[in-house]
Amino acid sequence: SAAEKGGYDYFMLKEIAEQPKAVADTLLGRIDAAGSLTLDEVRIPTSVLREVDKVVVVACGTAFHAGLIAKYAIEHWTRVPCEVELASEFRYRDPILDPRTLVIAISQSGETMDTLMALRHAREQGSKVLAICNTNGSTIPRESDAVLYTHAGPEVAVASTKAFLTQLVACYLVALYLGQVRGTKWGDEIVAVVRDLSKISGEVEKVLETMEPVRALARSLADKNTVLFLGRHVGYPVALEGALKLKELAYMHAEGFAAGELKHGPIALIEDDLPVVVVVPSPRGRSVLHDKIVSNIQEIRARGARTIVIAEEGDEAVVPYADHLIRIPATPTLLQPLVATVPLQVFACELATARGNEVDQPRNLAKSVTVE
Ligand code: G6P
Repeated sequence: SAAEKGGYDYFMLKEIAEQPKAVADTLLGRIDAAGSLTLDEVRIPTSVLREVDKVVVVACGTAFHAGLIAKYAIEHWTRVPCEVELASEFRYRDPILDPRTLVIAISQSGETMDTLMALRHAREQGSKVLAICNTNGSTIPRESDAVLYTHAGPEVAVASTKAFLTQLVACYLVALYLGQVRGTKWGDEIVAVVRDLSKISGEVEKVLETMEPVRALARSLADKNTVLFLGRHVGYPVALEGALKLKELAYMHAEGFAAGELKHGPIALIEDDLPVVVVVPSPRGRSVLHDKIVSNIQEIRARGARTIVIAEEGDEAVVPYADHLIRIPATPTLLQPLVATVPLQVFACELATARGNEVDQPRNLAKSVTVE
């Protein structure tokens, strides 16, 4: 009913709007005033976490993209190797698992059969499993050694939005916690990240306030057949997620690529007026990547692409090459997906609406897939 949708036309719109609160709720009570993490729910003894020599993330769909982003954070902050695998592929290749492997199973519903089977396989090999889940008491957390709940509230729309953002927050918390437990040197960067995580809800809110041009752009592209997405570093999984949203909702051909791979194949796809969304890393910090992606934007534009550039406020280098510019607030590099994903959600939702599609219940999809 209209009341359930809180005045919005679709649950998806309501859930996109709820993201600032969802993100804040997932952080609530988990970072103290001194910037230390208290994750009491993670009932895996710290002695075990100190011995972990590999992290493996298993998940499906949007949750898998959260896992891909988690890898950058876990390896950078903890120096523990991290693999990310589609849950449906995991157990069939006889993965190397032992008691020193920490498996993180990410699932909004907690009922996805592929993810459940992957974690059962991991536990049979003696690995510890930590679930990141949005649904209290669901099967995946019940069968795991520990669970960190995302507090996004119920997500009704099939295409995941607020659950994804809170999965990212939970992944960052786990990565920071692992670092804390293992005595990783708490450098200035990590201190800044913890501080900026606390402010991120407000940054997501700011993004939401500036989405009208994104909606207008989406409507103008309603008769396109293909949209490509490019990103680098954590922007690469964001590009994959942007493409997935468009497939799920707009039923368009959409693909995400690592921008560095353009020259190894995908650039052949570029033709006149093809919309290409580019997620640009911050010009601060790892600025080499920034410069490389600006070159990529120039290259595709020279070949006719219509460039839709998502870039940090104050990033002037992209301006001459952006046919459409979507601004996002400056954040530490690893946190950028929390703000960069939001315009892509709005874009896909509006395109779906413009194409007359059922936003909350896309054809052929289910909110949770309980068969393998
Ligand atoms: C289904 C949904 C996707 C979701 C995936 C994983 O395929 O349509 O939106 O990302 O399952 O769901 P989970 O509940 O495990 O996060």
